[in-house]
Amino acid sequence: MRLKRTSYCGKLDHTRIGDRVVVAGWVQGRRDHGGLIFIDLRDRYGVIQVVFDQQKNADFFSQAERLRSEYVIAIAGQVVARSEETVNPKLPTGEIEITTEDMEVFSTSRTPPFYIEDQLDTDENIRLTYRYLDLRRPEMQRSLELRHRVSLATREYLDAAGFWEIETPFLTRSTPEGARDYLVPSRMAPGNFFALPQSPQLFKQLLMVSGVDRYFQIVRCFRDEDLRADRQPEFTQIDMEMSFCDRNDVKGAVEGLVIHLFARLLEKELPSPFPVLTYAEAVERYGSDRPDRRFGMELRDVSDIAARSTFNVFRKIVEKNGAVKGLLVQGGGSFSRKELDDLTALVQSWGTGGLAWMIVTGEEMKSPISKFFTAEQLADLTGRLEGNPGDLLLFVADKTELALKVLGQLRLHLAQKLGLIPANVDDFLWVVDFPLFVYDDEEERLVANHHPFTAPLAEDLAVLEESPLKVRSQAYDLVYNGIEVAGGSIRIHDRQTQERIFGLLQMAPEEAAEKFGFLLQAFEYGAPPHGGIAFGLDRLLMLMAAKHSIRDVIPFPKTASGNCLLTGAPAPVVPAQLRELHISLDKSEKQP
Ligand code: AMO
Ligand code: AMP
Repeated sequence: MRLKRTSYCGKLDHTRIGDRVVVAGWVQGRRDHGGLIFIDLRDRYGVIQVVFDQQKNADFFSQAERLRSEYVIAIAGQVVARSEETVNPKLPTGEIEITTEDMEVFSTSRTPPFYIEDQLDTDENIRLTYRYLDLRRPEMQRSLELRHRVSLATREYLDAAGFWEIETPFLTRSTPEGARDYLVPSRMAPGNFFALPQSPQLFKQLLMVSGVDRYFQIVRCFRDEDLRADRQPEFTQIDMEMSFCDRNDVKGAVEGLVIHLFARLLEKELPSPFPVLTYAEAVERYGSDRPDRRFGMELRDVSDIAARSTFNVFRKIVEKNGAVKGLLVQGGGSFSRKELDDLTALVQSWGTGGLAWMIVTGEEMKSPISKFFTAEQLADLTGRLEGNPGDLLLFVADKTELALKVLGQLRLHLAQKLGLIPANVDDFLWVVDFPLFVYDDEEERLVANHHPFTAPLAEDLAVLEESPLKVRSQAYDLVYNGIEVAGGSIRIHDRQTQERIFGLLQMAPEEAAEKFGFLLQAFEYGAPPHGGIAFGLDRLLMLMAAKHSIRDVIPFPKTASGNCLLTGAPAPVVPAQLRELHISLDKSEKQP
């Protein structure tokens, strides 16, 4: 390297006019104008225009003519003001350019498979295959920087709040968070496996027993589950735990952190305290335990009115303890018959029988089912949903839970379709009092709604065995614009209660002892009351950076089918490696 950089391309501005500088970076593009060549040179801070003059740069002008996109070069020269008519107000460096005095070419480049620029219309798989090129794009560089800054600000904030960052093992036992484990075979203990942690849950609880008092970790977690836009097989948590605390203490610490991050990195002041909804209320009003409340369209119960009608579909469902739930679509009276049929097909694909609709007209209600209702009942329905002429009333009748869920999904679908979700609104919300258990139809048993270490609400403990599905937990989720960004709970900290929970989950005492004996034992040596929470850092970043996928805030993510297109992982290994690990593959599996 002959030329040593003195300035970043993107950091130069008019205050540097007259200075001699050396800049280095990637050629963004080249424009030839007879005896003049213009280059945009890019580094992580931006681009600067560089000018070659055939007269002055005779020694290397022909070399400049051969520069192509993504060549890596250094330029020595002088910062000068651009002539008035060539000033580019769109660029931070648009008032200046560099007149070249010397050049060094470090690398050439093949023609890249896509342009290194923000407006990109390239298949994501190509971006992931050439991720090192994709990451050169300014928006991806901003996303990497935001990730760095959020981690840094998190550490600063939590340190000041008395949290210690402590590492926990990756090679460990299974921690149940509801997904499948990634297993790592042990060479030294044939037939035995480590599991990569789905979260540091048990270790952070043990750290509380250790007297650490306040712990955090920015930590990778591993879950082998079906992927979606906001899920990755390895993802990062901001994981926290604190002792001698109740739910309000954890909420306070978390809100403080979020408010700090938004103020510091987005210059946004979030209103505090964040509103709180119970799980029951969230589901009743929005048909979801992570409601998007940037728009209204709350669900309403109309079972009582439906029961009085002569519409059999509704009446029978209400008689069988189901419910009829309604949703108002303002201005939805203009939906075509085809659009209404499509909505019906959509809700049917979500598992319910159908969708009933009524259009409020000011005179007679327009609807295939209005004949089953008296004028008074129709007025009651319109009143309950607060409909006006031109509005559409939608109804789903089913088992209460399903009717709410389907209508909740429809609420979101329609808000997106009708463009009712405002941009630039940051809506944070706590959802609390989740059911402790849910019933798993496939496994035919109770499973933990959050995880088995979550404490029941004290007032519900008495009915734990009697009616477990009615028991609420001391769990809380933080929801941001309809996405769960953090979840946690106050924990059980005594052996007896923990064993009762394992029992209800149909875990035999021997199995509990085998899997979690170390935790149960730790509780016998003085465990403080404790609780905590974990943020999905990638999800938080996705929302902060206004991206649609967490892949856009993860440097090297996996595809939806769990592959790394860049490295080709997962990949076969040679037989010797398998032998060493005491593993033989099923004959039907492909061998390398
Ligand atoms: P939970 O399982 O709710 O709780 O996870 C916490 C947060 O992690 C994020 N998250 C994910 N992000 C990306 N890809 C995934 N596959 C993925 N899975 C989860 C979510 C979620 O809110 N140990 C408990 C926390 C506690 O109780 O303290 C836990 O892991 O944003
Ligand atoms: P049917 O009597 O099944 O032809 O249905 C009459 C109307 O009721 C149609 O518009 C259906 O889409 C609607 N419908 C049927 N089942 C349900 C349901 N479970 N919830 C709401 N509407 C329904």
